[in-house]
Amino acid sequence: MKVAVPREIKPDEHRVALAPESVKKLVKAGMAVSVEAGAGTAASFPDEQFREAGATIESDLATLLGSSDLIVKVQPPMENAAIGRHEVDLFREGAMLLGTITPTRNLDAVRRLAERRITTFATDCIPRISRAQSMDTLSSMANIAGYRSVLIGAMTLPKYFPMFMTAAGTVLAAKVFVIGAGVAGLQAIATARRLGATVEATDTRPAVKEQVESLGARWTGVDTSESAQDAGGYAKELSADFYKKQGELIGKHCASNDVVITTALIGGVKAPRLITADMVQGMKPGSVIVDIAAEGGGNCELTEPGKTVLRHGVTICGPLNIPAEMPLHASLLYSRNLTTFITTFWKDNKFNLDLTDEIIKGAMITHEGQVLHAQARDALQKGAGV
Ligand code: NAI
Repeated sequence: MKVAVPREIKPDEHRVALAPESVKKLVKAGMAVSVEAGAGTAASFPDEQFREAGATIESDLATLLGSSDLIVKVQPPMENAAIGRHEVDLFREGAMLLGTITPTRNLDAVRRLAERRITTFATDCIPRISRAQSMDTLSSMANIAGYRSVLIGAMTLPKYFPMFMTAAGTVLAAKVFVIGAGVAGLQAIATARRLGATVEATDTRPAVKEQVESLGARWTGVDTSESAQDAGGYAKELSADFYKKQGELIGKHCASNDVVITTALIGGVKAPRLITADMVQGMKPGSVIVDIAAEGGGNCELTEPGKTVLRHGVTICGPLNIPAEMPLHASLLYSRNLTTFITTFWKDNKFNLDLTDEIIKGAMITHEGQVLHAQARDALQKGAGV
């Protein structure tokens, strides 16, 4: 099986889907790996390292993609403006693709993949079961986003994070409020604590209270009998009454903290609006909101995705694609997740497409011309007629 690693073409995407250490593993297992020249440069993996790991370096993109059985990517396939072709059009018909797709946000790519009869495995659709934990790119990348959100907050806040006793007197530790204590939120708590801040956190899933407290943060939450998570472990939409109560709680905590880090998502994709303009107005001058749910629209009403804005004396950061800003480790961890997926199904020197396997079934979003991801299929049938 020939595996292709193209250079990512999305602007500001600095990651690469496979790192040299993974290439070595796949080559050892019996696969041939080809890497587009310069694919790893922005992640600090020069071509030479891929060559030493056993890959061939290919300069011609059409040759690379057109001759491969499995293409691995970070971003969903997109139009390559430099050559005026969509990436999918360069794939060999019937080949496999493995990468992050977020199908409902990338319907055009999903439609094209089905039309070209590509078997697409979306890492973001892998079921979140114990066996798949080491394949979970969402967790690896959320961890980075949570960590860096605190660094962004600390760099933006006009204050120290830790408490300091200096000859000029004592300054108190910064107060950080984390909304959403999933993978990103828990890492944000841990990072803010390491930097010396005092931290409070909330989530709709009471199950995370213990984890929040074990990281040294104070838990705050709405008392409710509503079930907060779906069968996949993701947060569900809750009642208007719940959100009203939660709004009061969030407004109060935004007003008393210096940095608010928001990470809340519903179903892993949609960002609920939790911080209103009025709540921002109630915050202390110089406070900071780092809204890492900006990609899904943002948790704060005043967030402008991709921008940092000053509103009512509060700096609101809406960073997009945070993991791409730390491309070496982001690529390394992403690459390990992909490699675990590939080697798990590598049997007798070929990729074993076991359609009965829960992980394959969950991850496979297009196959033999069909869109298998239910929500994407419905959306396409309504809008684009696949
Ligand atoms: P996510 O990125 O989908 O959402 C982030 C957090 O926002 C979640 O904790 C969610 O409960 C919270 N949230 C949603 N609405 C909120 C609101 N109104 N207010 C406050 N918080 C709100 O979550 P993530 O980090 O991807 O984890 C989702 C679930 O998947 C968790 O139960 C986690 O334990 C589980 N998981 C399982 C894995 C596995 O077994 N392979 C790997 C990673 C996560």
